[in-house]
Amino acid sequence: MKYKVMALAVLAVLIYSCASKSSVPTADVPTKPAPPKTVVLTADLAEGKSLYENNCAKCHRLYEAKEFSAEEWQPIVARMQKKAHLEDLQGQKIYNYLTMK
Ligand code: HEC
Repeated sequence: MKYKVMALAVLAVLIYSCASKSSVPTADVPTKPAPPKTVVLTADLAEGKSLYENNCAKCHRLYEAKEFSAEEWQPIVARMQKKAHLEDLQGQKIYNYLTMK
């Protein structure tokens, strides 16, 4: 009789611990939709952005990144980086920034 009580107690603890484990994660699942995707700029992309904004609006307006595709930007940046007297690496950072999406 004593063993039966012990067995029941152990069983009860097992059931309780299993039940509480499985109920914890589901209680935390968010019901609202995920927030809109935000683009986090890495240091290099942030540098590309500032290089672009500071060097590429001297002769004309600042073109928007989405006005040209990555294929179109490549020859443009190559041509414009010379006009802006930038190094290849700086041009590359500008290109990466303009084509990240
Ligand atoms: C010294 C002046 C000057 C600077 C600095 C300059 N541009 Fe330009 N850009 C021009 C001129 C002039 C044109 C139009 C003639 C041409 O396409 O060469 C032009 C055209 C453009 C166009 C339109 C190209 C097309 O094919 O329609 C884009 C985009 C552009 N530039 C991007 C840039 C970017 C990015 C930079 C910075 C790396 C930059 N520009 C810096 C003078 C400049």
